[in-house]
Amino acid sequence: EIEKQIDDLLSRMTLEEKVGQLNQHSGSWDVTGPIPEDNEYVAERARLLKNGGVGSLLNVTGAEATYAAQKLAVENSRLGIPLLFGFDVIHGYKTIFPIPLGEAASWDLDIIEKSTRTAAIEASAAGINWTFAPMVDIGRDPRWGRVMEGAGEDPYLGSQVGLARMRGFQGNDLSEVNTILATAKHLAGYGFSEGGRDYNTVDFSRRTLHNIVLPPFKTLAENGLATVMNSFNDLNGIPASGDRYLQTTLLKEKWGFNGFIVSDWGSIRQMINHGYSKDLEQSALHAITSGNDMDMESEAYQRHLVDLVESGEVDVAVLDESVRRILRTKFLLGLFDDPYKYSDPEREEKLVYSDEHRTIARDVAKRSIVLLKNEKNTLPLSKEISSIAVVGHLAADKDAPLGNWRGRGEPNSAVSLLEGIKAAVSNNTKVNYTEGYTLAANNGSFAFALEYPEDDGSGFEAAIENAKNSDVVVMAVGEEALQSGEGRSLVDISLKGRQLELFKLIREVNENIVVVLMAGRPMIEPELYEGASTILNTWHLGTEAGNAIADVLFGDYNPSGKLPMSIPRAIGQIPVYYNHVSPGRPQTGPGDDGAVFWSHYNDEVNSPQFVFGYGLSYTDFEYSNFELSKNLMNMDETITARVDVTNTGEVPGEEVVQLYIRDHFASSMRPVKELKGFEKVMINAGETKTITFKLDKKTFEFYAADGTWKTEPGMFSIMVGTNSNDVQTLELNIER
Ligand code: IFM
Repeated sequence: EIEKQIDDLLSRMTLEEKVGQLNQHSGSWDVTGPIPEDNEYVAERARLLKNGGVGSLLNVTGAEATYAAQKLAVENSRLGIPLLFGFDVIHGYKTIFPIPLGEAASWDLDIIEKSTRTAAIEASAAGINWTFAPMVDIGRDPRWGRVMEGAGEDPYLGSQVGLARMRGFQGNDLSEVNTILATAKHLAGYGFSEGGRDYNTVDFSRRTLHNIVLPPFKTLAENGLATVMNSFNDLNGIPASGDRYLQTTLLKEKWGFNGFIVSDWGSIRQMINHGYSKDLEQSALHAITSGNDMDMESEAYQRHLVDLVESGEVDVAVLDESVRRILRTKFLLGLFDDPYKYSDPEREEKLVYSDEHRTIARDVAKRSIVLLKNEKNTLPLSKEISSIAVVGHLAADKDAPLGNWRGRGEPNSAVSLLEGIKAAVSNNTKVNYTEGYTLAANNGSFAFALEYPEDDGSGFEAAIENAKNSDVVVMAVGEEALQSGEGRSLVDISLKGRQLELFKLIREVNENIVVVLMAGRPMIEPELYEGASTILNTWHLGTEAGNAIADVLFGDYNPSGKLPMSIPRAIGQIPVYYNHVSPGRPQTGPGDDGAVFWSHYNDEVNSPQFVFGYGLSYTDFEYSNFELSKNLMNMDETITARVDVTNTGEVPGEEVVQLYIRDHFASSMRPVKELKGFEKVMINAGETKTITFKLDKKTFEFYAADGTWKTEPGMFSIMVGTNSNDVQTLELNIER
């Protein structure tokens, strides 16, 4: 039915109108007011919009503005084709949820889906029908600022989290007024930018591409994904926006993706800088013929595609195919029935930043916190404690918790840690705040670097005094919101300024310090990790950050998060990740006997500070009775692994039970561990729950060096445990 309607429309479209559907512009004037005709750039854009020369706008938000822009397009153009409105709803529209890396730490797929469902409800009420999320780039390098946007280092976790996020945005039916198109981005390999430097070149094997980088894209594409964004980087010498293998051969032809692909901002034009095309026209040619359907802000299609088709260099069928894909999503959204359905001021007023959404944000945030250390059982704190010193600039910061990419989140609108603590404690508790150290002045600029004014240490004395006179110190350290994110790569990911120095001084006067680490990436600071007895890793948790942290500090919520990314000990270890292959000279013994001819550093151990999957609880879990239904399996059967998990502590808690495999020898080397299943379960004190995982051919499949997907018989280890390091192991033999 839809395809017939598209056929009909296509048959009536001029070449210019077809190309128009492929152009995406960023909002360049206030569409609710008059068009500034004296600005030639804007005037040309307005003309195009009114003539059917634009298929989508990005960064135009709000019911009123999207209504006005839609009206310009629909009422003036010959065919009245409605626009798509795209926006980066990365972790919330106005109610801000934890950064995606933080949310992934919850390993709670239901809560992750709920978070993006809520974000979609808000965004769609404000006129948005398309988000450029989830980012499903696997990241092994915390120097890369965009790790905050992904789900960490693992392809299996990344696929599951990506799917949950996509389902939240898209719901069950795209024609519903509160669902929006999701985008899996960035195809492909962006997370592997050389040296962790944003936009840098990427070079890795086909094995890494298929086994590590592509699984999330494939999983989403096979489950109803609406759109894909390609990437700024080149991959093995071909800029992603011009990569036919990725966009057409794999995504569209092999995986059957029938949505459309949008370029990244200016990435078609950037093929000139890459040295891949000689001019913008050739960039347009490369992009369209390799499968890139929509052009975000390169103006390459706008300026050259009509000519390229007229000269015969681009077959009109290629153009038609891209137009068809874009029109299809417009039909699926129901825009041809009602182009204004998303622009409803009443719904916007009622839903955006509602109390209900803030409650959900708090719930998601508390579940994203990772307890890294609680050596002296300092946590949870009593709400009746007589005094708490709250120390550190970040503790009172109402902006940092919003993190980067905070949609339309209001600057300085988060509940700070200090506010959260004050709201949680009894009237008898004295809460004294001292700033202690200074950090970057957050100039709020998305496009310019933070500046770090010199900290003269003048806040130290008061903070130390405060700590001395209090029962417990809660010290916030970490990153400002815009210290991580796009264009925020760093060669040094330790604590900036004098945070560590103050921590050490405070520890001398009061050993009861709870460190609250707020950051958009794993940070390297061994002296902090080793010197503090209690550490909560709280990422950038969004609007309700302070309340959520207080929920954990005072035991209203028992922390359950697990790291989705290893925390390195030293910058020189990067990349450090759990699913590496074994070198020819691996560690065989304890390792530190002085021998040098094995794969290690002479000045640091190989292991990270905290491993993938790691995170503590206020209770303890014991694993027992680990069994496989069979120890010898035929490739075509399904077997089960089961394990009993007992809560041996005093309070109820949730555990993320993780299952890993190892393929001991294969036609191309396999990782020493691979996550293949996990389940998050609530277990009451004293209770035992049995967790069961299914293992079948798919579990053991891999992309081999010869370019085929394989399952090979042989010897495997099956491991279960509480993190990627602490596991119990059983052997499994697989025969053909
Ligand atoms: O969605 C983003 C992308 O991830 C980075 N460049 C800009 C796009 C649109 O804002």
